[in-house]
Amino acid sequence: MAKKNKFYVTTPIYYPNDIPHIGHAYTTIAADVLARWYRLKGEEVFFLTGTDDHGKKIVRAAETKGKKPKEFVDALVFDFKDAWKKLDIEYDRFIRTTDKDHEKVVSDVLQKVYDKGDIYLGEYEGFYCTSCEAYYTEKDIEDGNCPVHKSKIEKLKEKSYFFKLSKYQDKLLKHYKDNPEFISPKNRRTEIINRVKEGLNDLSISRTSFDWGIPLPFDKKHICYVWFDALFNYYSATREKGRESFWPADVHLIGKDILWFHAVYWPAFLLSAGIELPKKVFAHGWWTFDNEKISKSRGKVINVDELVSIAGVDSIRYFLLRATPFGDDGDFSEQALKDRHNNELANKLGNLVSRVSGLIEKIGLEKARENKLLKKLKTKEIGNLVENYEFDKALNEIFAFIDDCNEYVQKTQPWKETCEDRKKILYEVADLLRAVAILLWPFIPSTSERISKIFGFKVGEKTFDDIVKPLEVKEIKKSEILFKKIE
Ligand code: MSP
Repeated sequence: MAKKNKFYVTTPIYYPNDIPHIGHAYTTIAADVLARWYRLKGEEVFFLTGTDDHGKKIVRAAETKGKKPKEFVDALVFDFKDAWKKLDIEYDRFIRTTDKDHEKVVSDVLQKVYDKGDIYLGEYEGFYCTSCEAYYTEKDIEDGNCPVHKSKIEKLKEKSYFFKLSKYQDKLLKHYKDNPEFISPKNRRTEIINRVKEGLNDLSISRTSFDWGIPLPFDKKHICYVWFDALFNYYSATREKGRESFWPADVHLIGKDILWFHAVYWPAFLLSAGIELPKKVFAHGWWTFDNEKISKSRGKVINVDELVSIAGVDSIRYFLLRATPFGDDGDFSEQALKDRHNNELANKLGNLVSRVSGLIEKIGLEKARENKLLKKLKTKEIGNLVENYEFDKALNEIFAFIDDCNEYVQKTQPWKETCEDRKKILYEVADLLRAVAILLWPFIPSTSERISKIFGFKVGEKTFDDIVKPLEVKEIKKSEILFKKIE
């Protein structure tokens, strides 16, 4: 028997220092779409998400609430899991950097890299932004402020172990050259290559001024730098029994702000540890909210509960992937979401389903021998677009096909008695909706499942091949409204 293809997709592990918002939701929805897409095709999928529990940022956030870090993050992890449930996210594992198996992997890797001579003791003197959990040089900072958060940057001076990042400059450049797909999309790749060419400084990978982290196995007074710890989550999740063969990951989905960590530090750590590199890191763009940066201080945060409450789960899933190309920035507004909900989901898809199911309830249906319009559905192209992270274009194709279906009904007018073959026409359109619902399942799973119940077919995992199998149904009842219009 042929071995099944495997697909391993990850999201960043999020800092549980506040409740999940649109930025976290975006990557996680995209990962869910990919995971569902490959499951639809019958592949073996591993979809990993989780939280980045350690680090100074968490210690600080816990202190402001008068809590211990563990107690503080446990409560927020609950919120993250709850948000993913509300968004119909079906991950396979929720990893936390405080999980024992992960801590052991990190500790073992640290020892290995140390034994190899890639870690040495020194003193770090320089700048650090706790909100970024990142080191900065004099050249990076702006008027004493962090270039990202614009908040006052801290000056650090402490004994620290360093990782010999500089040693990996040429190896990294070679890897980018030999694997042009490693950093995606293309425009972000050049940026990284140019920066790496400028030279790499060794990286401080331990701290002594607080203890919320994994101790270095060779010097327990030091704890591991949060990014060294966090990046290894992708690998440690595959050290579980039965999951080993998922490594290397097919794709790490991340936001553009954390590309440097994923495209430079991460492969360098892996090269040093002698572990195979992931196949791809894909950096998506950022969302603004009403054209302003999302920021708590300005009250411009849109959290998952709010996102879902505006127009429902499937509408927000659809909107985020449809409104802007995955690699680009986008602007979120309630109006834009409502417009797509009304004009595309309700008017095009929802109306077609209710119209056709209603007519079939009244008139009945009769199996047609062939369904010519089905041949116009560009299944292969849509698949290529999804697998190339062009979700907006894939949805565009599917909805262009829904337009064709609506036009067909409009043109043939099966509600008129004068329409010859009207039962056959209605069968054809029901059959087209079956194919459409299968393709839409990764994007709007709950709507697809509702459509499948109305027309009596299967949708979900391993149903991709069913796109060409004709609908077998005798009776259909008019559907409830799929998308209620929002004024
Ligand atoms: N803990 C690290 C990741 C470690 S991965 C080994 C981290 N966590 S985070 O909680 O700050 O956020 C992570 C993700 O949310 C990033 O991918 C970031 O790009 C994304 N977003 C945060 N705000 C965003 C928008 N406004 N728009 C889109 N994505 C944004 O970084």
